[in-house]
Amino acid sequence: MSELAVWNCAQLVTLAGPARSRVGPEMRELAIVPGGAMLIRDGRIQAIGSRAEMERVLSADAQIFDAGGRIVLPGFVDAHTHPVFAGTRAGEFEQRAEGAPYAEIAARGGGIRSTVRLTREAGEAELLVAARRYCAWFLRGGTTTIEAKSGYGLSLESEVKILRVIRQLAADGRLRYVPTFLGAHEVPDEYRGRLDAYADLVVHEMLPRIAEEHLAEYCDVFCEPTVFPAAQARAILLAARALGFGLRIHADQFTPDEGALLAAELGASTADHLEVTGPAGLEALKAAGVQPVLLPASVYHLGSTRYPAARQMIDLDLPVVLATDFNPGSSPTASMPMVLSLASTQMRMTPAESITAATINAAYSLRRGHQIGSLEPGKLADFVIHDCGDYRELPYFFGREPAWAVYVGGTCVYSSPHFY
Ligand code: NIG
Ligand code: FE
Repeated sequence: MSELAVWNCAQLVTLAGPARSRVGPEMRELAIVPGGAMLIRDGRIQAIGSRAEMERVLSADAQIFDAGGRIVLPGFVDAHTHPVFAGTRAGEFEQRAEGAPYAEIAARGGGIRSTVRLTREAGEAELLVAARRYCAWFLRGGTTTIEAKSGYGLSLESEVKILRVIRQLAADGRLRYVPTFLGAHEVPDEYRGRLDAYADLVVHEMLPRIAEEHLAEYCDVFCEPTVFPAAQARAILLAARALGFGLRIHADQFTPDEGALLAAELGASTADHLEVTGPAGLEALKAAGVQPVLLPASVYHLGSTRYPAARQMIDLDLPVVLATDFNPGSSPTASMPMVLSLASTQMRMTPAESITAATINAAYSLRRGHQIGSLEPGKLADFVIHDCGDYRELPYFFGREPAWAVYVGGTCVYSSPHFY
């Protein structure tokens, strides 16, 4: 038996509460234990309480972690990322700074399709090296689980290659991964003007193979009238559902309501982006129990000011989730603390609401709320000691890496170079 006690926490931010996503005013309740302590046995949380209580039950050879008056939180659960790709789009970033719009760059063959060309050429080993580097970035921001999408292959063979890389990353055992198949991320060069033929390829060749090899839990589609309109997105998602995949949708990033209404119609787990969703879309999500996943870092990086209506969603009791959307085009950041900062300054979410959206609500959106997302007895010991004394400092000090030590399943997978 291995035992670890963590004590001397300024705040043990547990997020203990009902076994479901939190809505409305519940999102402000973090269930903080001031001066708290936690006992971990064999990778799971055994008890939460005071140091004196832990000392009474500790075995002689238990490890002790003195948090030194810092805060301890569940690891962030980043429910929307695209972490496997080759190259960067720093050149396009420069063009955008000079005034070229994202959509125009994409129409010229740049954007997602330029990353696809590079990713198709890369071997698994090269993609793995790049993705391991990004994995370290997630850990440095205090993230312990990510949902990881394919989508830069767009052919059977290269989509399978990306999902196999995600499987290898998961086997590393540092960060936890939830794999999602996003073959309908864009129409690749060789299918330009043949949308239906490409959608058929996704339905008849890619999905069955990915299901057979158990390479993904979810299927996602970039639903947008100029990319995958609702008709094609619906056909792909219905086929995915029939094969047992959960559904997530890139919805309403540029065009209102088509994606949100489709997510509601299909009872998808999540509708992601929602920058331009109107009242009808929001009501449909609410009625169908679809979780909104908000990605403010992509709004920021694209130089837009059109952030999703987070306050309205919280007022409607929608169980809001926050994620990075880490990808080379619209959101090259793996930092959940940066996302929390944007949520507070640009969407008027309070620090507590943001933390709820980035932990327990995100965990439920991935059907993992019973295992991760809060610090409660029986759950996996995925937690982070952050180098500050108050949880509100996480979004307040921005552009820093607050994680001091990161634990996954009770094992330390990262500690800050400033650690002493
Ligand atoms: O979520 N919207 C589509 N997909 C990504 C962007 C991907 C890219 O530009 O490479 C997103 O923002
Ligand atoms: Fe995305």
